[in-house]
Amino acid sequence: MATTTPTDPTPAVPPTTPIIDIHEVSRAYGGEGPPALDGVSLRVRAGEAVSVIGPSGSGKSTLLNLIAGLDRPTSGGVTVDGVRVDTLSEAGSARYRRAKVGMVFQFFNLLDDLTVADNVLLPAQLAGMAKAEARRRAASLLEYLGIDRHSAAYPGRLSGGERQRVAVARALMNRPPLLLADEPTGALDTASGEDVRELLTELNADGQTIVLVTHDLGLAESCAQRTVELVDGRIVRDVVRAAAPRATAVRR
Ligand SMILES: Nc1ncnc2c1ncn2[C@@H]1O[C@H](COP(=O)(O)OP(=O)(O)OP(=O)(O)O)[C@@H](O)[C@H]1O
Ligand SMILES: [Mg+2]
Repeated sequence: MATTTPTDPTPAVPPTTPIIDIHEVSRAYGGEGPPALDGVSLRVRAGEAVSVIGPSGSGKSTLLNLIAGLDRPTSGGVTVDGVRVDTLSEAGSARYRRAKVGMVFQFFNLLDDLTVADNVLLPAQLAGMAKAEARRRAASLLEYLGIDRHSAAYPGRLSGGERQRVAVARALMNRPPLLLADEPTGALDTASGEDVRELLTELNADGQTIVLVTHDLGLAESCAQRTVELVDGRIVRDVVRAAAPRATAVRR
């Protein structure tokens, strides 16, 4: 793996301003049950890696979806990198995601009828990046992630670990200030999970802000300096084990 990564560590806001500011957010789905999130406040600084743990149904994915603008809170506010995410229109929300957020999921969510390279290029195309520049960036990301030899292959031919690397490349394509991952090792064997763990750790060491949802306590602790625990839609624990790494990478 190369010593530099093609992500952009430069936060659009000063380091003292949180890149994520979630203020007293609740999300109720209606019906009988308790809300999926219940008065959650959370601030994340640029450069931090935060893992979110908690039992099934505790609201982890709901929280991630609110940060990504894929869902709206019933009450409270979500601000990311200066954008008030919870009040965006549908088009505004799509624009916000293209510019600010990279997402990685348990089951990769790759498009099986596009090649690896075309999957990675997709976010750049949607964002209107010049073709030549997009191709250069996709190639360098695939090389950085050690999957350039699979550029012309279809995702169905790749192993789970390789597919997750493609998904990470796609997530980083538009240099998002924020990388969100929901159970990124959930569908992987131990060795591939370890690869993804190393990759996330390295990206964070290079300055990438990461919010990682996981059931895997080992992953939570090794990738992130901070762990937030949700139970029944509330934060019951928020532990910072170390300072966020200072970004040192030379950027391409
Ligand atoms: N679209 C929905 N409609 C109704 N209820 C929902 C919806 N999405 C989530 N919920 C409920 O909200 C709660 C939190 O769900 P969420 O998916 O955030 O949990 P989670 O912590 O990610 O769980 P898991 O670890 O199983 O992925 C659950 O009780 C779930 O049933
Ligand atoms: Mg979930």
